[in-house]
Amino acid sequence: MPDNLPPSNNPLVHQWMPFTANRQFLEQPRLIERAEGVYYYNTRGEKLFDGSSGLYCIPLGHGRREIREAVTKQMQELDYAPPFQYGVPAAFRLATEIADMLPPSLNRIMFAGSGSEAVETALKVAIQYHRVRGEGQRQRFVGRERGYHGVNFGGWSVGGMVNNRKSFGLGLPGVMHMRHTKIAENQFQMGEGTHGANLADDLQRFVDLHGADTIAACIVEPIAGSTGILVPPQGYLQRLRDICTKHGILLIFDEVITGFGRTGQNFASQTFGVTPDILTMAKALTNGTIPMAAVAVREDIQQTILDAAPEHHVEFYHGYTYSGHPVACAAALATLKIYREEDTFARVRELAPAFLEQIGAFKDLPYVTDTRGHGLLGAVELEHKGPPGARGFNILCKAFEAGLVLRAAGDSIVLAPPFAATADELTQMIEIMRKVIVAS
Ligand SMILES: Cc1ncc(COP(=O)(O)O)c(C=O)c1O
Repeated sequence: MPDNLPPSNNPLVHQWMPFTANRQFLEQPRLIERAEGVYYYNTRGEKLFDGSSGLYCIPLGHGRREIREAVTKQMQELDYAPPFQYGVPAAFRLATEIADMLPPSLNRIMFAGSGSEAVETALKVAIQYHRVRGEGQRQRFVGRERGYHGVNFGGWSVGGMVNNRKSFGLGLPGVMHMRHTKIAENQFQMGEGTHGANLADDLQRFVDLHGADTIAACIVEPIAGSTGILVPPQGYLQRLRDICTKHGILLIFDEVITGFGRTGQNFASQTFGVTPDILTMAKALTNGTIPMAAVAVREDIQQTILDAAPEHHVEFYHGYTYSGHPVACAAALATLKIYREEDTFARVRELAPAFLEQIGAFKDLPYVTDTRGHGLLGAVELEHKGPPGARGFNILCKAFEAGLVLRAAGDSIVLAPPFAATADELTQMIEIMRKVIVAS
């Protein structure tokens, strides 16, 4: 047995933590015990501002009574029912409400348990759609460098994050990646960059090289979140849309982060005025309280799949034990009600200009190499200090000590505050971040 194992009397050894430097964590645990509103409390009872809305999933802040009560009530009435061949009323209500928030063509909703599952679902819908139309040779997917689409095999294959790919073998065959959209010409531009719409032509090049009739779908995040908030250049998403339409390729927007108000509208699709054929969402759907995700599909895509199967036959051999879980549906319905009644996304439109200006102001620090952002999503990129990512991680640890929970994407420091925060709280958050960055 190796002799450098952590002491087995350390009570933290048994949880193998996800996306975490486990050995470092055991030496310097960052434990969060409680949360209320836009603050967490650590085990010493100290208050920390939630600068990342959990993992981009808690726009309303923590502990909303309405969601808790809806979940409790649902647990008392119906804690679970099988989603295959049976249905629960709450799931149908929720699907209707989600459809109402989306561009009108995206009105068929399938539920899943996580963003990763939503992505797998979307990819499989695309393949089967082409197949039932007699275009079964359309099996390639186009993703993008620096894209993140979750951790399951389809998702990491179309994703473009090196560390998420390199340890896990070959992945899905026939996947190609467009170049990412972080380019020097747009350095320090907040919002959509003025250069780079032509990067969408990478998709056209794959069409020219492999034939459009081999490509099932192109999947992108409207704003790439997990690799440090890469906002699309002006005109880029529309150009992708045009190429997809011209060649019968389905366009999938992965809105797991950008969905539910993060860019000031219901979905980034509406903010940027580009409608995909399939759209994935998760996270803020339940304000992060209960795991849940959904995939919105163009009506005629679903209809084509349904029509192709014999009656009384399952049309789409796909689903999860927890698809449309009644308790998750109750949490989502309560969350969407708050979004509507409190006009929550208007808060983003109000708070975003000052927030983005404050993020942009980091440009004055000599070792800041870029600032980016849109809505309530912002990133400050720093020169490497030591190996890539070391400085970002160090800042994350120091920020925790200084009362701020944030995200580090390599050496980009990412903020995605709850919409429930006040303008003053956002300013305080930025001040803590500045102090920590200056000391890094
Ligand atoms: C764009 C995008 N897609 C998919 C996922 C995966 O979601 P989950 O972690 O719920 O599986 C994420 C997670 O951050 C994401 O940002």
